[in-house]
Amino acid sequence: MDLYEYQARDLFEKYGVPVLPGIVAESPAEVRAAAEKLGGVVVVKAQVKTGGRGKAGGVKVAKTPDEAEAAAEAILGLDIKGHVVKRVMVAGGARIAREFYFSVLLDRANRSYLSLASVEGGMEIEQLAVEKPEALARIAVDPLTGITESVAAEIARAAGFPEDLVDRVAPVFVTLYDVYRGEDATLVEVNPLVLTEEGDIIALDGKVSLDENAGFRHPEHAELEDRDAADPLEAKAAENDLNYVKLDGQVGIIGNGAGLVMSTLDVVAYAGERHGGVTPANFLDIGGGASAQVMANGLDVILGDEQVRSVFVNVFGGITACDAVANGIVSALEILGDNATKPLVVRLDGNKVAEGRAILAAADHPLITLAQTMDEGADKAAELAAR
Ligand SMILES: Nc1ncnc2c1ncn2[C@@H]1O[C@H](COP(=O)(O)OP(=O)(O)OP(=O)(O)O)[C@@H](O)[C@H]1O
Ligand SMILES: [Mg+2]
Repeated sequence: MDLYEYQARDLFEKYGVPVLPGIVAESPAEVRAAAEKLGGVVVVKAQVKTGGRGKAGGVKVAKTPDEAEAAAEAILGLDIKGHVVKRVMVAGGARIAREFYFSVLLDRANRSYLSLASVEGGMEIEQLAVEKPEALARIAVDPLTGITESVAAEIARAAGFPEDLVDRVAPVFVTLYDVYRGEDATLVEVNPLVLTEEGDIIALDGKVSLDENAGFRHPEHAELEDRDAADPLEAKAAENDLNYVKLDGQVGIIGNGAGLVMSTLDVVAYAGERHGGVTPANFLDIGGGASAQVMANGLDVILGDEQVRSVFVNVFGGITACDAVANGIVSALEILGDNATKPLVVRLDGNKVAEGRAILAAADHPLITLAQTMDEGADKAAELAAR
């Protein structure tokens, strides 16, 4: 999970990395208020999860609250590489003497960590890496030792920091590594790390990527997720670990295995052409474990979609046999009770198909229609959705 700059700034502050004050704002009026609160020169910065904000006009210096408000009007709504700016951060303005670069990241190829640093920081670091690779120091970091004061000094010297600055930046590198380890990050990058006219070292921009596999160690990371970006049904599916993507149609789809679900979408879309143009309402792969609870969670998400008129359950029994899936469907309908209101077309095939079909036939649920083949099931589901 990539963080916004303001979230990275907050983490940096928590660990003691030197940063400037920053206030998040969503309207020009809020930006003006933030600029008044901070006082003096501020920088209005687009909060989007992509690089090159400065070059795209997403970072503007403002000397007065009036200028800050005008900058916000220009930046909010701006499209930066497909990301529309909904929020900005109003940051204190630094008087920059020099711009440096520092990062620490997971180096999968070498099964290690890697630190990159340069005294030529600023906006064009990717270009620097290509055109002047010698200016970008690459130091392997042993995960068992980490970035200690002496490793940090080694990184600073390799990057070409003058001796009087080595002692100043090294502790900041150590603290940034604390963020990296402490938060289970896969990337902590500061570009630019600056030396101000006053002689202070400050992290002016931060990028942090967190390792979602370590999420169980960080319940607090859930708050950093981009809820407003996700569809509410997708958010609910994600909470239940379901592989769900909302689409625009009327036929809800549940299948096991991404390939089968993809082809089910195609078959339903074709069948829909014969039934007034109905199309699939979603992609939902329930994976291997089609237990009653997983089936109930999946149906619950799909039935929560107001556009859905029918549901096609298309399962190929493998390790999870058809009888288990059939029991899952029957129990799921019991769990959902009155919340299950839309017709279900079920096609089962594969391991223990006869047992599975027998279970569904015996249950004789008014909402369930059994289909023998995938084409027949798709056609029936499309027909029901078109009614
Ligand atoms: N708080 C600040 N005070 C003064 N100047 C700033 C401040 N923040 C950024 N700048 C200037 O603006 C430049 C670009 O800002 P920043 O690094 O945050 O964005 P960016 O590098 O363009 O975006 P990205 O990192 O997403 O590619 C910096 O290199 C710095 O010169
Ligand atoms: Mg930057």
